Amino acid sequence: MNRPYVVINCAMSADGKIALPSRKQVRISCEADMKRVHQLRNSCDAILVGIGTVLSDDPKLTVKEKYLDGASAKKPLRIVLDSNCRIPNGALVLNGDAPTIVFCADGKKRAIDGPEVVECGDGKVDLAKMLGGLAKRGVKRLMVEGGENVIGSFLRSGLFDEFSIYVGSMIIGGEGPTPAGGEGAKSEQDIIKLKLESCERLGDGILLKYSPGKRI
Ligand SMILES: NC(=O)c1ccc[n+]([C@@H]2O[C@H](COP(=O)([O-])OP(=O)(O)OC[C@H]3O[C@@H](n4cnc5c(N)ncnc54)[C@H](OP(=O)(O)O)[C@@H]3O)[C@@H](O)[C@H]2O)c1
Repeated sequence: MNRPYVVINCAMSADGKIALPSRKQVRISCEADMKRVHQLRNSCDAILVGIGTVLSDDPKLTVKEKYLDGASAKKPLRIVLDSNCRIPNGALVLNGDAPTIVFCADGKKRAIDGPEVVECGDGKVDLAKMLGGLAKRGVKRLMVEGGENVIGSFLRSGLFDEFSIYVGSMIIGGEGPTPAGGEGAKSEQDIIKLKLESCERLGDGILLKYSPGKRI
């Protein structure tokens, strides 16, 4: 299938949490990892999150020039998966600093100030169809930034090429979100296998890089 190269990226605590139990955002990345993340954003044509992340974190999804060592910041396309078009009008991802597309389910489109709204899938956004549409628009490299349900969907579908996790040296505890939301494996056959490509110390944490493993 013709689709962009997909890089999933997230930061988690040493106990596998990507936010507080309340789902409130918390900074897990050190400065060195922030720099890596912004350079990664700048190397991509598009950056994607789910509506859950927009509602909880209100991210801008833009590139901060201060992390680029003198290179100029690009304006990657910002993408939100939002089946029911729940995105609030004042969301920062709609602020006009970079182009934005909201993908929703068929029949759920509504007029929103700023972004293009595209219907794509029955009930929820169909990832394969969306990726095909992005490829047709010239998106060659896509960064998936979260949150737990969107990353879980990409991992389960196998529609990814790299999965990077920065493990911060901290414990959050409780039952907050993890890098792979959704129901989870019901049996050993459902486990998503990864292949470890590299593992390096970065600041006070560890950067793990995986590619998709063989299905069992
Ligand atoms: N540490 C990190 O790196 C990091 C990064 C980002 C976010 N986070 C954290 O992650 C948490 C948010 O996670 P979340 O799971 O609530 O939100 P999310 O993954 O950003 O968004 C999930 C929502 O996206 C919509 N969606 C549409 N199509 C989908 C598809 N094919 N697959 C999956 N979802 C689809 C669904 O809502 P509809 O059915 O309404 O469309 C779904 O509930 C927050 O606590 C945030 O702070 C952490």
